[in-house]
Amino acid sequence: MQRYAVFGTPVSHSLSPRIHTLFARQAGVALEYTAIEASRDDFAAKLAASDVQGANVTLPLKEDAFALCAGNVSARARRAGAVNTLLRNGNGWHGDNTDGLGLVRDLTERHGLDLRERRVLLLGAGGAARGVAPALLDAGIHSLYIVNRTAARADALADALGEPGRVHARALDALPGLGEFDLLVNATSATRGGALPALPMSLAGPRSAAVDLSYGEAAVPFLAWARAAGCAQALDGLGMLVEQAAESFLLWHGVRPETDAVYTALRTQADALVTAD
Ligand code: ATR
Repeated sequence: MQRYAVFGTPVSHSLSPRIHTLFARQAGVALEYTAIEASRDDFAAKLAASDVQGANVTLPLKEDAFALCAGNVSARARRAGAVNTLLRNGNGWHGDNTDGLGLVRDLTERHGLDLRERRVLLLGAGGAARGVAPALLDAGIHSLYIVNRTAARADALADALGEPGRVHARALDALPGLGEFDLLVNATSATRGGALPALPMSLAGPRSAAVDLSYGEAAVPFLAWARAAGCAQALDGLGMLVEQAAESFLLWHGVRPETDAVYTALRTQADALVTAD
């Protein structure tokens, strides 16, 4: 039996074990996939003590996972400075980052968005934002405006992306002057603490799409704002979660699973959880 796990904290409610178990059943692969609670202090020790062949890494460990790979990372993980997928490699680990491709696949293939030449607003400049920014650029967007509470972090992310013609860092108080965006991505963890930064309605219009990288309760405030601002689509991060998992599965097992049935099963469950309150 092959063993895999997701490491993070809090991780007990992670949907990854369910997703990978469904993928494995579909692909005829025998595996066990568990959730292992790990903090920044004990992640390396817990990973070393586990006998997993591969792992997913979630909050707040993606940058630690990157460091742990000691340079043995894919180009997209290097660009993101963060790793969400680990593959055992001799005595060490190979790191990859499937978050960005997961988001782009969800937006383009499941939701039919054409990202080419789009004007995109990225709210946040932490690990989640770093994970998706390179893939958005690779998808051919016109421009990426990064807005973050701490302006220096937005500047640092814009610098790291290395495309000064297309990537612009702006402070939160500049939002009212930025005009309308085709796609608005909430990559802040603000709503996990309950407070969304004030967003002017002028950022969105009837052709805009908005996506929150989280799902469930955490996505509710931003998606409510997006609907109030008139966005044509207001999407949560559930589809991205399933798509990034499929890319991890492909790396580990050499097969890319069919994601639609798994997404539909989880969608029903996630919607029931949000409306249960
Ligand atoms: P993650 O891996 O989820 O991105 P992170 O690296 O801690 O976690 O980043 C959290 C992001 O949410 C950051 O962009 C953070 O802004 P700061 O860089 O200013 O900390 C943003 N964020 C968190 N709480 C916020 C709040 N209440 N208002 C606005 N932005 C917030």
